[in-house]
Amino acid sequence: MAETPRVTRTKVGIVGGGPAGLLLSHLLAKQGIDNVVVEKRDHETIANTHRAGILEQQAVRMLTDTGVDGRVLTVGDEHEGIDLRFKGESHLLHFPELVDATVTLYAQNEVFVDLAAARKRDGGDVRFEAEVTEVLDLETDTPKFRYRDISAGANPDEVFEVHCDILVGADGSRSFCRRAVGSAQGHQDFKIEYPFAWFGILTEAPKSSPELIYANSPEGFALISQRSETVQRMYFQCAPDENVDDWSDDRIWSELQKRVDGPDGFQLKTGPIFDKTVLNFRSFVREPMRHGNMFLAGDAAHTVPPTGAKGLNLAFADVQVLFNALESFYSSGSRDLLEAYSDTALKRVWKAQNFSYWMTSMLHTRADANPFETKRALGELETVTSSRYGQQYLAESYTGWPHA
Ligand code: PHB
Repeated sequence: MAETPRVTRTKVGIVGGGPAGLLLSHLLAKQGIDNVVVEKRDHETIANTHRAGILEQQAVRMLTDTGVDGRVLTVGDEHEGIDLRFKGESHLLHFPELVDATVTLYAQNEVFVDLAAARKRDGGDVRFEAEVTEVLDLETDTPKFRYRDISAGANPDEVFEVHCDILVGADGSRSFCRRAVGSAQGHQDFKIEYPFAWFGILTEAPKSSPELIYANSPEGFALISQRSETVQRMYFQCAPDENVDDWSDDRIWSELQKRVDGPDGFQLKTGPIFDKTVLNFRSFVREPMRHGNMFLAGDAAHTVPPTGAKGLNLAFADVQVLFNALESFYSSGSRDLLEAYSDTALKRVWKAQNFSYWMTSMLHTRADANPFETKRALGELETVTSSRYGQQYLAESYTGWPHA
């Protein structure tokens, strides 16, 4: 039997307790703007979900300068460049020299752990294992969402409601908030699918090279990334329906090695593989990133292929724009920045979409490709790596444009 909902009243109701939702919650709390975060998954699940780990300097600053944690500086690894490898040759792009910037390799689940700890330390209201079932009254001054407590032993009939001034959908790529409003309400989704996926592994092995290697090869793309001195993260392009059970460690190592082989004799350092996952991706944007008093942020509004390492950075950039708008709203009553939120955020979103698409198409090989396309992509890589302007263009995009 349906019960009367238990109501919480707050200023900003945030659906989604991943990095974007928690960072926004943290920033708002620092300004005394009370907020409630609900997240469907439990803490453990998110803490153990491996995702891309490159942070722009601005994203790092959002964690350190606002008092989340300095762990990103001590545990994270600062990187001064990337290695673009094609035709078996390495081309190192040195970011400090090109654009006076660096990036930091720090896994997204670590970012989550730090943010969740900071919210707990500061007495934030973050409710895990809370599944949102409805968003209501989005076009009024009191948008609401309803949720159920899905933790073990909770009463499944009990309904909770959060009433707020502003509702934020930061609930990831399968966003409930986004899907609750559709094209009938004046929204448009822009998307493309790719005919390939990434096979991701974690291995107990030493680093194979000081910088991340992005490799284009006739066999397809490979990315040699890292996690620590003893754990490495690597990916290779595979079919979207690839089955991890078909891949023994030996087969994986030989596939990865083929993709970085070259006359310089470069050899990957191998070790036991303890995690194998196929990652599908697409390019997606919802416009506008708002419906009434509900604002979308991060993956809820847009996703990019991982090749440009932009996902989390773009989410943090949204959070910065939205936080500025909310701070202005609560300090002056002006809605101007809230009105501008979607347009402001989308400018950066489309730049990142372009960069991620460009990196993806330049570095991957399509099984059905016209050989002209394959050769053209190599011509593009030659153009970028042989010109200082080309290198700077890539370096500027990879390390991140200034925040709005
Ligand atoms: C990662 O380390 O997981 C990673 C790094 C760079 C990317 C994507 C993923 O572009």
